[in-house]
Amino acid sequence: MKKSISSILLITMIILTKGTIHAQDQLIKPEIEEKIDSLLALMTLEEKAGQLNQHNGSWDFTGPVPEDNEYAEARARLLKNGGVGSLLNVVGADATYEAQKLAVENSRLGIPLIFGFDVIHGFKTIFPIPLAEASSWDVDAVQKSARVAAIEASAAGINWTFAPMVDVGRDARWGRVMEGSGEDPYLGSQMAVARVNGFQTSDLSDPSSIMATAKHFAGYGFSESGRDYNTVDVGINTLLNIILPPFEAAAKAGVGTFMNSFNDLNGIPANGDTYLQREILKEDWGFNGFIISDWGSIRQMINHGYSKDLRQSAYHAITSGNDMDMESEAYQMHLVELVESGEVDIEMVDEAVRRVLRMKFLLGLFDDPYKYSDEDREDRLIYNDENRAAARDVAKRSIVLLKNESELLPLSKETKQIAVIGHLANDKDSPLGNWRGRGESNSAVSLLEGIRNAVGSDVEVTYAEGYTMSETNGSFSSPLNFPKDDGAGFEEAINNAKEADVVIMVVGEKALQSGEGRSQVDISLKGRQLELFKEISAVNDNVVTVLMAGRPIIEPELYEGATTLLNTWHLGSEAGNAIADVVFGDYNPSGKLPMSIPRDVGQIPIYYNFRSPGRPSPGPGDAGSVFWSQYNDMDNSPQFIFGYGLSYTEFEYSNFEVSAETMTMSETVEVSVDVTNTGSVAGEEVVQFYIKDHFATAMRPVKELKGFEKVMLNPGETKSITFMVDWETLAYYAADEQFKAEPGMFSLMVGTNSNDLMITDLELTR
Ligand code: NOJ
Repeated sequence: MKKSISSILLITMIILTKGTIHAQDQLIKPEIEEKIDSLLALMTLEEKAGQLNQHNGSWDFTGPVPEDNEYAEARARLLKNGGVGSLLNVVGADATYEAQKLAVENSRLGIPLIFGFDVIHGFKTIFPIPLAEASSWDVDAVQKSARVAAIEASAAGINWTFAPMVDVGRDARWGRVMEGSGEDPYLGSQMAVARVNGFQTSDLSDPSSIMATAKHFAGYGFSESGRDYNTVDVGINTLLNIILPPFEAAAKAGVGTFMNSFNDLNGIPANGDTYLQREILKEDWGFNGFIISDWGSIRQMINHGYSKDLRQSAYHAITSGNDMDMESEAYQMHLVELVESGEVDIEMVDEAVRRVLRMKFLLGLFDDPYKYSDEDREDRLIYNDENRAAARDVAKRSIVLLKNESELLPLSKETKQIAVIGHLANDKDSPLGNWRGRGESNSAVSLLEGIRNAVGSDVEVTYAEGYTMSETNGSFSSPLNFPKDDGAGFEEAINNAKEADVVIMVVGEKALQSGEGRSQVDISLKGRQLELFKEISAVNDNVVTVLMAGRPIIEPELYEGATTLLNTWHLGSEAGNAIADVVFGDYNPSGKLPMSIPRDVGQIPIYYNFRSPGRPSPGPGDAGSVFWSQYNDMDNSPQFIFGYGLSYTEFEYSNFEVSAETMTMSETVEVSVDVTNTGSVAGEEVVQFYIKDHFATAMRPVKELKGFEKVMLNPGETKSITFMVDWETLAYYAADEQFKAEPGMFSLMVGTNSNDLMITDLELTR
């Protein structure tokens, strides 16, 4: 993927004229590099290997632990000997202080540890799952979420999060789609940058900043059949243009670390992939932070059939560019002998250690190794009112209104009787979603509580569980082992529905039905939820259906049967209040789907930015023909398309204009459109901008998102929205793997979702 000299010159020119500096360059500070030189000169080979070794500090494991019963004892010894560079899962001002002391006050050189933790969508104040946050298309809100998470985590001794996960996901069977930003590389890049900025700020040494990790590098979201940890086979076009862009965006934003992935990519385990780690990340993108492996994954190269033993795994990992080993003990056991035997060059080890030390210096740990372990900050800053208010704000912005056929929503707060139905409605745990950091079990505001908080005592709010679900939240046991639902709760639910003016029925997934290791072949509603939904809909015309899940759910009968439907995902600590904000119109929903919702699992992978087949539709006069790219038994289209979402108001698009019909490589054109709020309430619209490259040396998608803007409009108000197009907007990694724009015809499209678009043409000339 080498860029041609001319394109490098052009890129440099554009970067210079825009006045931006590659944030990776800012990680290099001459005074720090000198200090690292001095330190490296003092270090023994064992101490160098120690810096590249990360251990779990508690038994909060997220994968198989090494089979060594004396592990805990050995760990303390290692810490004192300078044999550990970082700990994960040691949390709390006190615990991190104690661990840091072991390392700093006992080891020969006193090099501080960094403390890593999975702060994925909040630390203790839990924000919406990342897929939900991406539905907000609100970069400020997403940045704010990461900022609050960093403030809380750093107050508990943590200075490094394993987030954001920037894997593009096209397969909702894969449980980890909840942790990403959906199917689009552009939206994913914007979210990646927002999160990196929120975690790291512009000053990594600030005590409230924590280092971010772009993960999982690369291809993890493309695990075959949606099965977690499975093999990945993707072509170069998809790798360069779909999978890698959010990683590159994170690198450009100055992310301090990358985590490689569990999967193999086209036959090479990602953590042993020189092309990915050395050529693309470190050379092409100029990444100056360090790469960590995923949990135990260096060891797993043996299972991949890529190395014969742990020693060879260590060899593959270090030579291909993996700097730190998370919980495989491969570097700990074998790095020294690999160097001493001459198989691994000491310079390679020095380079990895330099990267780790660099980030420790930048975090300010050499100045004060205890700066994050501050009990006063811990008491004041975690889970306070301000943070919970921020979580509610982000949560309401993340809700997607999928249907509002009879304009039942927003409800009046004077509605006499509201029947809230469904196990998930009274569930204070599921809204926290998976990967909830230090979020306490059962601590979320349930939907039922949110509704009751919002209405006065004159409104009668009844509750019936209706269907049943398992109680396995918070544990690692399979959430699929639902006890059989004998339907005992149906009668009460149906009776409540009959008596109520309005029903709010909640269906979906428990927290741990999605997330790591939670792949499913059947992603419909489990148990008897759909059956109860139909019975409730038969007795009351005013049913607001709330879908609460960690992934797109496939349930056509629900989508077609519901007249009023909110997709809320798992919204975090303040879920119930945020849903009530939308239900009663205190906030006008503005979310848009970051991932298509399929009609059937057989359509997966399904995504809006596909490449056109040679037979995209029946030829003229060919009606009834089967010889085109279609299913004989179902539409090609998804149930709901990428970018889709409604509001309580209407937006009209007009005066769509492009400033020129042709453009050269050095010119810029402006695309503008007027957006008017034609309804009676204020609301935000996500104005979306797509392009299509009509013909190219490597095929391009039928459309691809290239910009969006979220705009607030009062009733009757019009705003003009402008998108700038330059050669980079039109560029991609072409057949020769170079990043360039190719002359020819393009379509420029603007609209409210990826389907309803106004189109104009632009010709790019040399
Ligand atoms: C495994 C997961 O794949 C990764 O995302 C996470 O950061 C590590 N475990 C550490 O918990």
